[in-house]
Parts: sequence; structure tokens; C-alpha cells
Amino acid sequence: MSKIHAAITGVSAFVPDYILTNAELETMVETTDEWITTRTGIKQRHILKEAHQGVSVIGIEAVKRLLEKTNTDPSEIDLVIFATVTPDMMFPDSANLVADAVGIKNAFCFDLSAACSGFLYALTTGAKFVESGSHKKVIVIGADKMSSIIDYTDRTTCVIFGDGGGAVLLEPDTEGYGVMDSLHHSDGSGQHYLYQKAGGSRYPASHETVDNRDHFIFQNGKPVFKAAVSGMTDVVTRIMERNQLSIPDISWLVPHQANKRIIEAVSKMSEFPMEKVMVNIEKYGNTTAGTLPLCLADWESQLTKGDNLILTAFGGGFTWGAIYLKWAY
Ligand code: UT7
Repeated sequence: MSKIHAAITGVSAFVPDYILTNAELETMVETTDEWITTRTGIKQRHILKEAHQGVSVIGIEAVKRLLEKTNTDPSEIDLVIFATVTPDMMFPDSANLVADAVGIKNAFCFDLSAACSGFLYALTTGAKFVESGSHKKVIVIGADKMSSIIDYTDRTTCVIFGDGGGAVLLEPDTEGYGVMDSLHHSDGSGQHYLYQKAGGSRYPASHETVDNRDHFIFQNGKPVFKAAVSGMTDVVTRIMERNQLSIPDISWLVPHQANKRIIEAVSKMSEFPMEKVMVNIEKYGNTTAGTLPLCLADWESQLTKGDNLILTAFGGGFTWGAIYLKWAY
């Protein structure tokens, strides 16, 4: 029997309506549209403004759209993985909340936490269940409500992040389409450069943690920038080499959208012309686990069966990696 690959057979996305522009940020912190645009490439980001709405709202809408467009009955889904670092609650997992809201009752569901590499890690994880033959219809969601952990008085982080995400359906394929290879890394020594200190078991919520603003993201941008460029360039180069791929073989490089300058540096160092690189950071900012499905959804109409894609991401942890996939429709 030919090898089973996990093919993406549908993609969907959702961003909340409210748009936070660079102009509005200029009224909130000491920044300028010029600084944000030249240093990051971001012009606007979407924000889930309504009170008491968690990231599951984004996941639910994305999954509803996915089920509808792929003509899939919720009863057919047998696994849901939700990559996020901004779950509705510490538990139960947001994957369970999504499944409950859309009527998925025959699946096991869990969240996966790998920051900006979350969707990449979850896609590899979901693919393994399909490749093993044990699961036939797997939904992988990547979404974050970054506004819930952003300090809107900290200009070094609040201009970067936004809310949103998307989902893909994975199904078995025996004709050579789908996830062909993946390469992942983690380095815990990166913990000092990008983290949310409080809210976990080491610093549970207290008056002190709230007063210290410890429930918000901290980022030391420069070392993260450097590690992101070298990490993504390395995995993109290696996954192409070990699959005997060169630039003309690849239709699209799909990089995590953290900073346009990072994307340009990775494409330059791995010798990808920018015409082959998906960039939509100007519309959404950095949506953490949401960036890759948002790219796939935005470019879906331009993709054709057999296109070779290289996905890559880098994030808090540090976590990073690359996936080589052959588009299946
Ligand atoms: O997605 C997960 C992984 N995360 C990333 O990949 C992000 C990686 N890092 C970055 O993208 C960049 O480091 C940032 C966009 C976060 C910052 O850009 P930078 O070019 O590294 O700027 P910087 O932190 O070195 O700051 C340069 C200057 C500083 O002023 P001084 O010290 O030179 O006077 C900052 O205070 O820019 C200042 N600055 C700002 N000015 C206006 C920082 N943020 C702002 C701002 N508006 N929003």
C-alpha cells in the first residue's frame, strides 16, 4: 500500500471586526505610524473587543466556516488540536470549547502551546495521527487573542500583536499530496527573552502580580529577532536540502508573520525572491499561532494542486521549525 500522507483539504480563517490602526496607537503610546511601518511592516491589527470573549470565539468561527466549505458533518471529525497561548481558561482546553460549540462529539480534543510556532507544531502532530491510519478527519486550529495579554502602555509590544487565526482540515491521501516532511526544534534557554511571567503555577495571580503588570507579555526584541532569522533560515535550508528541493521547485514560502524585516532577512538568506513569499503582516500584525493559517486562507485562491509549500515559524520558548507540504487541491 502507498504511504499515507496528511493532506490539507480545506482552510478557513477568522479575524474580529475591530481594526486597531497605527493612527489609533499614536494616541495611546508614544509611537508613530512611520516607526511601526518601517520597523515592523504592520499597518493595522484586528482586536476582539467584546468583554468575556476568549480565543474560542475565533476558533469556533473558523471551524464553522471550515466544516461548511468542506461539506463536513461535525460527527465525522475525530481529532481537534487547538494551538494557542491565550486559551479561554487554564482548563478545560479551548479545543473542547470549540468542539462543543460546533457539535463535534466523536473527537478527542486538546490544546497545544508553542507560542508563534504553535500552528506548525500542531500541524505536524495532527499529521502524525492521519499518517498512522488511526484518524481520518483532523482539525488543526491556530489562533490567539493576543490583546488579552498585551500591555497597551508598553510601546515595544502593543504595536506588534493582533487577534485572529484559522483552521485546516487534514485527511488521508495516498497519491503523494499533503505534509511530506517536518523539522522542529526547541531551546528553553530562550525563556528569558519572550514570556508571560504570571498566571501559571510559579506566579499565580495575586495583587502583586497584577500591580507589577506580570500578566502581560515581556519581549526583549533584538535577541528574539536574531534567533528568529537564523533559526528559520536554518530549518528552511535544511528541509529543502533533505528533500532535494531548490527554489524553482517551491511555489511559496509561508513564514510566521512577526516582523516584515525578519521575513525579508529569512527570504534573502535562503535565497527566496519576495514574489514567492506570503506576507500579510500589514493587515493583521503578529497573531502568534494564527499567522500561518491566515496566510494559507488569504492565498488559497492562488494555490493549485501539486504546489510545493515551505511553512516556517519561530516563537517564544524558543520554538521553531519548518514543514514541507504539497498542496492537495
Ligand atoms: O513572533 C514571536 C517572535 N517575536 C519576534 O520575532 C519579534 C522580534 N523582534 C522584533 O521584531 C523587533 O526587535 C521589534 C519590532 C520588537 C523592535 O524593533 P527593533 O528595531 O529591534 O527596535 P529596538 O527594540 O532596538 O528599539 C529601537 C528604538 C528604541 O529607542 P532608543 O533606545 O534607540 O532610544 C526603542 O525605545 O525604538 C524605540 N521603540 C519605539 N519607538 C517608537 C521601541 N518601540 C517603539 C515604538 N515606537 N512602538
